[in-house]
Amino acid sequence: MHILHVVGARPNFMKMAPVLRALGRRPAVKQTLVHTGQHYDANMSDVFFSQLQIPAPDVNLGVGSGSHARQTAEIMSRFEPVVLERTPDVVLVYGDVNSTVAAALVCAKLGVRVGHVEAGLRSFDWSMPEEINRVVTDRLADFLFTPSEDGDTNLEREGIPAEKIYRVGNVMIDSLIHLLPTAMQYSKNGSPERYALVTLHRPSNVDDSHTLKSILESLLEINEKLDVVFPVHPRTRQRVSEFGLKLEKLHLLEPLPYIEFLALQRRAVVVITDSGGIQEETTYLGVPCLTLRNNTERPVTVSLGTNVVVGNDRELLNSELSRIVEGKAKKGTIPPLWDGHAGERIADVLHSLQFQTEGSPSDCAGRTTTRGVQ
Ligand code: UD1
Repeated sequence: MHILHVVGARPNFMKMAPVLRALGRRPAVKQTLVHTGQHYDANMSDVFFSQLQIPAPDVNLGVGSGSHARQTAEIMSRFEPVVLERTPDVVLVYGDVNSTVAAALVCAKLGVRVGHVEAGLRSFDWSMPEEINRVVTDRLADFLFTPSEDGDTNLEREGIPAEKIYRVGNVMIDSLIHLLPTAMQYSKNGSPERYALVTLHRPSNVDDSHTLKSILESLLEINEKLDVVFPVHPRTRQRVSEFGLKLEKLHLLEPLPYIEFLALQRRAVVVITDSGGIQEETTYLGVPCLTLRNNTERPVTVSLGTNVVVGNDRELLNSELSRIVEGKAKKGTIPPLWDGHAGERIADVLHSLQFQTEGSPSDCAGRTTTRGVQ
């Protein structure tokens, strides 16, 4: 069986690594790795490949940045000949970035089966580019690998047949569990004793000058009582400079490699973020998380985990922060199946397809096995 993985942007890499590793243990599986080049800076891409021990891509489409239409179209036209030439049995796409939807669309038109890893998440916020990518990718996919029960519910509500849905758990947490022992050996490396760790890159937060200015004012205020450590995403750095805003009082860093960032998260008093994956990582680590968005596609991090969605409500941000600083943070638990074995479960499903191709097409043994784990 030939599995082709497509990745393009930073959050894809830690989702793919455990699946690639699990499939690598199955001798009958051939794997091809395609990087679209959506993220191309060494500290947004290469360093993740080396830390996550992902082999160099077989193909790099080198698409780079651009408007959504341009980037998506460029990925599609460069990816189509690769699929035609390499003839994979299944193409795996990850998460909700433009590379995900572009690759899924190419495969659906060519009649090549698509597996979507991290299916079923919904923010119900159609102004988010990622929400469009999620809904379209799920509609096109043949195998939908969900991280939590809400994913299954969302897909069933949209009419996706239950036999396409496999609840396998959270692949991002597989990578975290794999590399946490290494991260724990990292020293403080110049960071303050107690700090709030901040990440910010969503267009809704950084592309509008008033919104970004207001968030940065809040961070400067927080910095008066708790040091703010802020690795700045390239999109955010670009906007800060375009809008002529000042950040010098904060502890500014370049985007960090995976292990260094994990080490910083683990020690943080609180993480303030608009990222999706970081809401999950903090829940696993038991670190309080305040999310600067009006919604989350990862509700389990709120219902079970340490996440509080504060939106753009500065008062709520300050009151939640005070509770955390006073040691009264909300306690969380780790959601079911966030156990380090999600990649293995995906490999089980795909492996069973091989026998399905050779034997009866309607009987997918993997599905029964996977559902049995829940
Ligand atoms: C993309 C994803 C987002 C994900 C984020 C993680 C989409 C729609 N968005 O957003 O879901 O959370 O990645 O980072 O796919 N840039 C660089 N170097 C790079 C990459 C980008 O300087 O290696 C700059 C470019 O100016 C680019 C901008 O960052 O225009 C935005 O990059 P892009 O890939 O379009 O979106 P992200 O904001 O990174």
